[in-house]
Amino acid sequence: MGEVILIDHPLIQHKLTLIRDKDTGPKEFRELVDEVSTLMVYEVTRDLPLEDVEVETPICKDTFKVISGKKISIVPILRAGLGMLNGVLQLIPTAKVGHIGLYRDPDTLEAVEYYCKLPNDIEERDLLVVDPMLATGGSACAAINFVKERDPRGIKLLVLIAAPEGIERVKEEHPDVDIYTAAIDDKLNEHAYIVPGLGDAGDRLYGTK
Ligand code: PRP
Ligand code: URA
Repeated sequence: MGEVILIDHPLIQHKLTLIRDKDTGPKEFRELVDEVSTLMVYEVTRDLPLEDVEVETPICKDTFKVISGKKISIVPILRAGLGMLNGVLQLIPTAKVGHIGLYRDPDTLEAVEYYCKLPNDIEERDLLVVDPMLATGGSACAAINFVKERDPRGIKLLVLIAAPEGIERVKEEHPDVDIYTAAIDDKLNEHAYIVPGLGDAGDRLYGTK
């Protein structure tokens, strides 16, 4: 419980380097975030339970494995988390999607909620909360607090880049939540941006600034 899983497959490291590059524009940035998110799902779903089914191949009948009816919901933290949603859905297309709108107040650095809509049957589901950046951890912890009010079966947090400070905060406040990340960076700067990071994920995804 409360594990940090670094997913550092060479394809992910390569694409993440391109994502970090300040000269990568929004179109390519979105495509790369999409691809990395899909690749990360491979590891995030490693513990999905399987069950036996009988299938007749053109040669004979035999018993094979299928995923055992596990109900999953993806919960992107708006707005940057939306950039990871389609990539995750590529591999879990039947997942229901909840949305949590949060922004980080630039002065207090506290997460401010502005939207929350979750699937009705969340208590029967395992949740995957997605957001590209885990900086102070304020947004992730606030989102996890919201979803915990609805008592889901389990929660995993999927991010592209984590700062040590954010990891510590999530581990402390939510020791039951595993964190999957493609990189653990050095630190936060004086504005609580991740160093070296990739800048402001929302701005880079949507070309705002
Ligand atoms: C970014 C990012 C995380 C948050 C991380 O969102 O997408 O949600 O910052 O920082 P924290 O760990 O210190 O809370 P932002 O607040 O910039 O909002 P946006 O996605 O709407 O751009
Ligand atoms: N939010 C971002 O988008 N980037 C950071 O580096 C920190 C918080």
